[in-house]
Amino acid sequence: MSYLQSTYDLYSSAATTPDVGLCCTTTPIWQLPGLDIPGIMLEMNYGCGSTVHPRDLSGEPTVLYLGVGGGMELLQFAYFSRQQGKIIGVDAVDDMLEVCAKNLKLAETRNSWFYANFVDLRKGNALSLPLDDESVDIVAQNCLFNIFKQSDLDTALSEAFRVLKPRGRLVLSDPICEQDMPETLREDADLRALCLSGAIPFESYIERLTNAGFATIEVRARRPYRILPAHKYDIQEHLFIESVEIAAIKDPMPEDGPCVFSGKTAIYFGEEPYFDDKKGHLLVNNMPLAICDKTAEQLQSLDIKHLHITPSTYFYDGGGCC
Ligand SMILES: C[S@@+](CC[C@H](N)C(=O)[O-])C[C@H]1O[C@@H](n2cnc3c(N)ncnc32)[C@H](O)[C@@H]1O
Repeated sequence: MSYLQSTYDLYSSAATTPDVGLCCTTTPIWQLPGLDIPGIMLEMNYGCGSTVHPRDLSGEPTVLYLGVGGGMELLQFAYFSRQQGKIIGVDAVDDMLEVCAKNLKLAETRNSWFYANFVDLRKGNALSLPLDDESVDIVAQNCLFNIFKQSDLDTALSEAFRVLKPRGRLVLSDPICEQDMPETLREDADLRALCLSGAIPFESYIERLTNAGFATIEVRARRPYRILPAHKYDIQEHLFIESVEIAAIKDPMPEDGPCVFSGKTAIYFGEEPYFDDKKGHLLVNNMPLAICDKTAEQLQSLDIKHLHITPSTYFYDGGGCC
């Protein structure tokens, strides 16, 4: 059986019998004024972070959400848009779509502002999206792409890129792992479907996003996710898995390559009122400026006295220049 079929089977069961421990997140669940999330949606929170960021949601964007789960993030996105069909949820598993639709109906009874038809649920595969080119403003996926093997991951990323309008963004939350994942675990279809053994290193994930064409990358969070204990999985060392939250923006690609904002900041603190690198970065004396990793490297190579560049915080939420 293919690993994709094992994934569908696993999520078919996870739809009919909620598995509270299936994925987990240390990201606080959005609890917003007037938002009542049904308990079943919380039990079926199979994500590893959040993809709902109010800053992404100005200008009435159309959101495509891949891998609907119990529908909690669909409801949270709808909280901000409150219009029919503005949120499109796509899932490959019939049972998951059915349960998600039921949960959204339940949410309708609990939230006077919400109608289930705010969300347009569609059967479909993230590897071959049933949407036109450049038709949505936001693509969101939480804990789905990590399940894909590398060539499928590249396909999923290029599909997301294809359906996004120019300047649109892919917002994602996914596990990553810096250690070598043993092949036995990588090839274990159930572990992969459980979001435990498909995780790739951070840099490799970023590279795949930029290879797909995304020119601006914002790394919004990086958090501990799981440990795979050596004794349990019969492996040499314990494996530490983190989860990342990233926004990948379909900006035009700069000639000198993508801008990856991993949370670095530059501060000039010399005698002059400012430092100008003549490449668009004006560092006003003692004012922090968020910079992308490429700019950090270029500034560092200038070897300027009284210029401090901080390490990545992996917590970038906008601002700065590149
Ligand atoms: C780990 S769950 C995440 C659910 C949801 N995003 C959340 O955060 O709770 C993965 C979801 O992706 C769906 N799925 C699995 N393979 C898929 C595929 N190839 N295309 C679209 N959806 C898929 C599953 O049915 C399930 O709803």
